[in-house]
Amino acid sequence: MSPRRCLTLLGLFAIVCLGCRPDEGPRPSRGRLFEVAEVVGTVTDSSAEVFLQTDADMTPGFSFKMGYDTFPHPQDRSYPLETPVQSGKGPGQKIVFSIPDGLNPDMQYFYRVAYRRSSGDAWVWRPEGSFHTQRDPGSPFRFCVIADFHDSTPPADPWVVRIAENVAADQPDFVVSLGDMIPVSNQGSGDPPNCGLTYLAYVGFGDQAASWAYSHVLSKIFNTFSHSSMLVWVNGNHEGLAGYLTRCAEYGWTLNERKKYLPLLNHAEPNGFFGDLVWGDVHIIWLDPLAFATYDPYMLNRPEGYILGEVQRAWLEETLAGSSSRWKLIFAHTLFGGGGPNFDCLPGRAYARGNANYVDVPGTDQIHIQSLMEEYGVNAYFYGHDHMYSVSEYGKSGVRYVLVGSGVESEWTECLEDRYAPWEVILEERGHLRVDVNTDSLVIHYIRAGFNETNGQILATHEIVPVP
Ligand SMILES: [Fe+2]
Repeated sequence: MSPRRCLTLLGLFAIVCLGCRPDEGPRPSRGRLFEVAEVVGTVTDSSAEVFLQTDADMTPGFSFKMGYDTFPHPQDRSYPLETPVQSGKGPGQKIVFSIPDGLNPDMQYFYRVAYRRSSGDAWVWRPEGSFHTQRDPGSPFRFCVIADFHDSTPPADPWVVRIAENVAADQPDFVVSLGDMIPVSNQGSGDPPNCGLTYLAYVGFGDQAASWAYSHVLSKIFNTFSHSSMLVWVNGNHEGLAGYLTRCAEYGWTLNERKKYLPLLNHAEPNGFFGDLVWGDVHIIWLDPLAFATYDPYMLNRPEGYILGEVQRAWLEETLAGSSSRWKLIFAHTLFGGGGPNFDCLPGRAYARGNANYVDVPGTDQIHIQSLMEEYGVNAYFYGHDHMYSVSEYGKSGVRYVLVGSGVESEWTECLEDRYAPWEVILEERGHLRVDVNTDSLVIHYIRAGFNETNGQILATHEIVPVP
């Protein structure tokens, strides 16, 4: 055979192979094989982890692998590096694709998961995702912050989907989710709590309902951006994991589901309630005001019930004392205290609302956190819960209180605007935070979510410079 004819045949063979290669189309929502899309777990300067949660039709005969490279492979599937083939996973089990070491720091990687039903079948390749290994100090990058989706029941809230799409378009290294994304519990059902009322979302279906609530909501996050950005998950007051709920059977289901679906990043304590992440010039620290609460502070109208607790307090002090990052940022769903009993223009009671105006509510932990932030040069405290965007400052401390605001529009705004004065940056628009991290500045943009040409508009910009 002439060399030219041989090349032609080889080319034809390649085209035929590409044509018959089984591939999955656009990212699926919930399917029979996988409940939600891939999730990027812990990524360090040399290792990474991606996981995939299986659905009802998965059988132990299936096998899986993950190919990865520093370049995208939009057409071919010849990834030079692959994780070992694994099998034996049944329905509802998690498949973890682990790259234990060998990655380059501060580099973008692209990956695809492949699966087959039996060893004789062709591999089916999932859509391509990506992750970035830990940034070096001085390397600029972007992360996003979202909060308060409050989305537990179909039909899908189009606002939630739109915000998630906008976050994906920003291509952040990681996303901090500031709580109340999955409202599986109500606060204020009695003290001690009426467990049935508190976890009304489960209406008696137990584990199955817990699983359903998580996968339904998370599919909008995972299928949209968590396949290509790390997710830092911070609990809100509706996550069903407040300390005073440990006496309810539903607490156990909720904690199990959290561990099943959500990544526990490096250094997080066993349940992921608090933890930290150093990335480039930033030290991210997240906290939980309710994980160690011994009673419902909302029901008893006692803002001092939102507490650090002994373990979290000691960890925070130690972590801040040991931090040498240029930027230090704290994240929590609310202040540790906030608006007191007279915050009565809202139907809620001591519901931890408020900004820098409420840092020094007597008896609450926030003033201790504030003094730590001043001592160790923390630049900002990011929080959610109040469904608006606002930046305020406690005195001239240099510590900014940044309210993320990506929630439902609500009638609270008028009341809160009054209580948030004298700070001006307050918006009812739904959206998310885009944070661009540079060596000399940290630039926060509040990005509008909309259904016309205003979608993606920058509604507010706030620049933070290093504490002198
Ligand atoms: Fe909340």
